[in-house]
Amino acid sequence: ASSKVVVVGSCMTDLISYTPRLPKPGETLHGHKFNIGFGGKGANQCIAATRLGAAATMVAMVGDDSFGHNYLENFKDNGVDTKYVGVSKEAATGVAPIAVDDSGENCIIIVAGANLKMSVEDVAKAEEAIMHASVVVCQGEITMEATLAALKLARKYKVLTLMNAAPANADLDPEIIKSSDIFCVNENEAEVLTGIEVKSIEEAKLASEKLMGLGCSSVIITLGGAGALYSNKEGHKHIAAEKVSPVDTTGAGDAFVGALAYFLAYYPHIGMEEMLRRSCKVATVSVQAPGTQSSYPKRESLPSELFL
Ligand code: RIB
Ligand code: NA
Repeated sequence: ASSKVVVVGSCMTDLISYTPRLPKPGETLHGHKFNIGFGGKGANQCIAATRLGAAATMVAMVGDDSFGHNYLENFKDNGVDTKYVGVSKEAATGVAPIAVDDSGENCIIIVAGANLKMSVEDVAKAEEAIMHASVVVCQGEITMEATLAALKLARKYKVLTLMNAAPANADLDPEIIKSSDIFCVNENEAEVLTGIEVKSIEEAKLASEKLMGLGCSSVIITLGGAGALYSNKEGHKHIAAEKVSPVDTTGAGDAFVGALAYFLAYYPHIGMEEMLRRSCKVATVSVQAPGTQSSYPKRESLPSELFL
């Protein structure tokens, strides 16, 4: 059986230190806890979708090391199809040293390693999976060439493309934006791409319009605790999020994107606004538990109205 959700993107091993506050340059800080977790924006989004019940395929590259082998096991444990997860002998599995402070805020360094070894040819090998998908999801932690190849392959078969342009990249290939049906960024990524500082919903509207002018069909700007703004040629819709005290916001954006991929594939009839409301709910649950994938909720633990 083919997967409705195909993610072409990154896998990273998250090395998470919990600290009272984030370190300053040159400073040494005592942290109070350390955890190793499964992360990387692509894999996080894939796992978030799977936890809700999606049949998902991951197209990715890990290194031939313990982190990479463990990662393959993690995908299998979560029911993700790993047929297109390659193992590279040329680079180590991606890692992400992360600091999380007492307010749940984070700082992340990514060393992409094997993620950058996934070639356009590797993506082409997944054509069969991509052509049968309902949605193809990409991010910015593999090469832009591989990302663009995935989006173009999806377009060739009229498969919906969801591009999460994270982390921020001022040199993003404009073809990537043009190949996105839904182009999703946070406030900071929106600012880096448009030069418009996004501190309010009004500014988010301006940034969205600028991004649509670059050729994507619709834009989502996530606004942290303030929810998300969805824009297309008909106008803008703001979706508010519930107010909670976050424990760890790492990967909350990925929980949102993964949930959206799930709802796009399985609940197309409910409409974009409702899908976004439900995706915000999933992200809100994820910030209330530590870690990235470890905090992503399973369908059974969520209110049943999310699946009506
Ligand atoms: O979005 C959160 C993710 O960013 C982390 O899991 C880390 O691996 C980095 O890719
Ligand atoms: Na979390």
